Amino acid sequence: MSNKAILEVNGQKHEFPTITGSENEVAIDISSLRTATSGVTTIDPGFKNTGSCVSEITFLDGEKGILRYRGYSIEELAEKADFLEVAFLLIFGELPSKEELDKFHADIKSESIVDDDIRKIIDAFPKSAHPMGVLSSLTSALTAFNPSSVNVDSQEDMYKSVVRILGKFPVLVAWAMRKKQGLPLDYGDNSLGYVENVLKMMFKQPNEEYVQNEILVNALNKLLILHADHEQNCSTSTVRIVGSSHAGLFASISAGISALWGPLHGGANQAVLEMLEAIKADGGDTKKYMSKAKDKSDPFRLMGFGHRVYKNFDPRAKIIKVTADEVLNDLGVEDPILDIAKGLEKEALTDAYFVDRKLYPNVDFYSGIIYRAMGIPVEMFTVMFALGRLPGWIGQWREMRLRKEPIGRPRQIYTGSTHRPFKSVAK
Ligand code: ACO
Repeated sequence: MSNKAILEVNGQKHEFPTITGSENEVAIDISSLRTATSGVTTIDPGFKNTGSCVSEITFLDGEKGILRYRGYSIEELAEKADFLEVAFLLIFGELPSKEELDKFHADIKSESIVDDDIRKIIDAFPKSAHPMGVLSSLTSALTAFNPSSVNVDSQEDMYKSVVRILGKFPVLVAWAMRKKQGLPLDYGDNSLGYVENVLKMMFKQPNEEYVQNEILVNALNKLLILHADHEQNCSTSTVRIVGSSHAGLFASISAGISALWGPLHGGANQAVLEMLEAIKADGGDTKKYMSKAKDKSDPFRLMGFGHRVYKNFDPRAKIIKVTADEVLNDLGVEDPILDIAKGLEKEALTDAYFVDRKLYPNVDFYSGIIYRAMGIPVEMFTVMFALGRLPGWIGQWREMRLRKEPIGRPRQIYTGSTHRPFKSVAK
């Protein structure tokens, strides 16, 4: 393939170089477009055709249903790896040795206490507050308590910020849930593994000894790995763009949490479960909801279906579907919602509307069913997604800072009024 692209603008031909990624993806490098054409720009709503950066972290092929972190397939990582190993891989580029992993974990643990005044902020939230709003606010508040984490000019400063957020974030996640449930805010146990400790912090009852459940540990480990990165999605792009102004890591992650909250992105896992519950309450008539989803005059969409990039099976959905079966079986939970989900999936996969538009179940179609079986409240589902996505956000932020990427600042095409004289109210 030619390594240049020719664009004709106002009768003049301009040549632009192309760049080819390691998986042979080709992009036209238009960074000189405005200079070459005296100000002509491109427009691409939703950035459907625009690459915002080059990245070495995650590769996905939406047509073939491939997802890899730093070259390792998601199937293999979900099966064999530990979440903290995957976090190290995403952030630093290689799987850790045993010594590196131990040091990484020890550094994270040494940063796992949050300033006790954070409790006062949590106390000020109403119990009805959505935990995603609470988590985003508390993550942003971490900057106030750790101001030195904003200017990260050296790799050491950057590392400190990274282990700090990895240490403190699970505490905020657990406290956001416990606040809602009226449970005392407490710490876990640093002698436990990272994922084990998350579960203990979330579920420990004040009047009972906490007993670890290996099925839950394995299921959560897998879910967190599956959510850990997904290249330039809405929340990750948000983290990179906020970080590009050199706002600190915590402020950038807080913005990413807000982006993830929406039902078209991470909020879909909550929306899926609410949808399945509504279908169940309405008599379980999946056909009725399939028709609603296809009716253009009805705003209803089949939540958990469709993806901006996957036009084939989301590989994470395949793994999660099997995990949902295993977890429910192991826990002895019979959930009619799982049957409704399977029924909907079966219908959608043979329905012309969904087939033509290449709409397949995405990562969130089955994740909520597992979270519910684990005893996690519906409003916490997207918070769990944020916990999983944290290493991806960090890795992408770090890559952006190390590459010294310029501040993100898109252009626009103005379509408002042209210049007009001011009219005073009196006239
Ligand atoms: N139900 C019914 N129709 C759908 C759905 C759906 N879930 N998703 C897409 N479509 C239809 C659209 O109406 C559109 O139809 P048209 O061509 O006749 O106008 C066509 O499929 C293409 O859809 P777009 O919205 O243009 O696709 P886009 O890439 O912009 O959106 C998105 C992707 C937001 C994920 C969309 O599929 C959606 O809303 N899905 C439901 C929400 C969801 O599950 N989000 C989680 C995504 S995964 C994640 O973020 C972790």
